Amino acid sequence: MGNIIKVIIISYFIGNFSSAYILGKLYEKKDIRNYGSGNAGATNALRVFGIKIGILAFIFDILKGFIAVTVSKNIMGFNGGLIAGLFVVIGHNWPIVLKFRGGKGIAASLGVMLCLNLPTAIICMAIGFLVIAKTRYVSLGSIMATGLVPIVGLFTKKPFNFNFFFFTIALALMAILRHKSNIKRLLNGKESKLGERV
Ligand code: G3P
Repeated sequence: MGNIIKVIIISYFIGNFSSAYILGKLYEKKDIRNYGSGNAGATNALRVFGIKIGILAFIFDILKGFIAVTVSKNIMGFNGGLIAGLFVVIGHNWPIVLKFRGGKGIAASLGVMLCLNLPTAIICMAIGFLVIAKTRYVSLGSIMATGLVPIVGLFTKKPFNFNFFFFTIALALMAILRHKSNIKRLLNGKESKLGERV
């Protein structure tokens, strides 16, 4: 029990490490949440601060998901990794240190899945990149990629693991919930496309 609480707290605070926010403050002296879409994530960092900070934010957010799960998996096994995965994304999306205004958890989810189930991570990432390449909507690619994790996971995770399945559903639901404003803009034709700077 003690270990579970430790994993939850440590993963949550690793998630609070918002790369887009920190890099924006460090290099541009700006709070990313006041610019572009207002999201503290790699896509908005790319949009507002340019390619270098965008890519760095993407890599660091992937890394934090990957590290939180790897460490917890080694200490507590696969279920420990699932708990860490859940809470690192919660920490990224709703960080207490940033008054609960964080990101949308896509890069962090990718890092988590790379450690928990590599085939699912690669397939969903490929789908996401394909959608983005076709439409230039990062949000649509993100929603598709994360939304499909539970379904792809059904085929790649053998034998069926209920905890993993439940975890992937939670991951997908969080991503969809965090993209509510993007979904509205996509439906109204007002979503900004990749490459559009503000
Ligand atoms: O991963 C976030 C992306 O899907 C959307 O970001 O800034 O366009 O809301 P943004």
